[in-house]
Amino acid sequence: MPTITATAPGKIILFGEHAVVYGRSAIAAPVNQVQARAIVMAQPLAPAGEVQLQAPDIDLQARLDKLPETHPLVVAVRGVLAELGVVRPPACTIRITSTIPVAAGLGSGAAVSVAVIRAFATFLGHPLANERVSALAYEVEKLHHGTPSGIDNTVVTYALPVAFQRGQPVELLRLPAPFTVVIGDTGIQSPTAIAVGDLRRLWQAEPAHFESLFDAVAEIVQQARQAIENGAPERLGALVDANHGYLQQMGVSAPQLDRLVEAARLAGASGAKLSGGGRGGNMIALASPERAQSVADALREAGAVRTIITHVQAPV
Ligand code: PMV
Repeated sequence: MPTITATAPGKIILFGEHAVVYGRSAIAAPVNQVQARAIVMAQPLAPAGEVQLQAPDIDLQARLDKLPETHPLVVAVRGVLAELGVVRPPACTIRITSTIPVAAGLGSGAAVSVAVIRAFATFLGHPLANERVSALAYEVEKLHHGTPSGIDNTVVTYALPVAFQRGQPVELLRLPAPFTVVIGDTGIQSPTAIAVGDLRRLWQAEPAHFESLFDAVAEIVQQARQAIENGAPERLGALVDANHGYLQQMGVSAPQLDRLVEAARLAGASGAKLSGGGRGGNMIALASPERAQSVADALREAGAVRTIITHVQAPV
């Protein structure tokens, strides 16, 4: 049996995080500079049905049946077995590695799930369509997030810029003019479930106020989508800034994020905002390709532990 490898990229949310949990649409893009990788190797000498999981980054080396049923990797692997109706897979080892920072809003959990689901299904002789890969990865996301919108598993599966709305088919964006994004990591690990849960409590206390913030974000998302699809990314900076203002009002920013956002703007970014769950993790800044490196340098000086320059573009 051949060895099978699958990879999945990291992701950023360009517009609409948090509001997307409440049914509004959001825009996300893959970050191909970082990725998760799963390799499935047959172990012909081991008894049939034995699946070994290896994830050296998190010091994991265990047999599937020895891990808790709620372990994210177990949910991913068992999801594939159930999907394909396989009870006793050929003995194999699944090795997982990732260069995506964890709990930083870059979609590391979703990327690991997608890589594992794809590689394992292909190893079993039944490569899965994107829609099924994303649906199985969504089941794993529920463990990480509680009430995930599904945007992370969607963008990571399709590995293309997407507009996403809960319960709607995914829409791939037309992107006539690529644009450059600088990502800055605060280095603060911030589980998405906490920011999402805190916002939910605020929304429960004052639903009308927060619904109006989500509507305002939805309006920004719509304008941003038009700018992207009409090949006018120069219009995005002001929309990025406005989106950050609403995220601050939702209580999901943090002083370190605001400091990086400010530093990016001072260094010539046309707009900057937090990206993902917030409270820590990453922010993004829009910059011309010529200015991107000086924006990245300014983010480092302002305390970013890592920067990535990425290009949002149509399939190449
Ligand atoms: O995984 P993160 O931190 O990029 O957050 C995902 C975006 C949220 O809107 C905050 C949550 C969700 O499920 O959509």
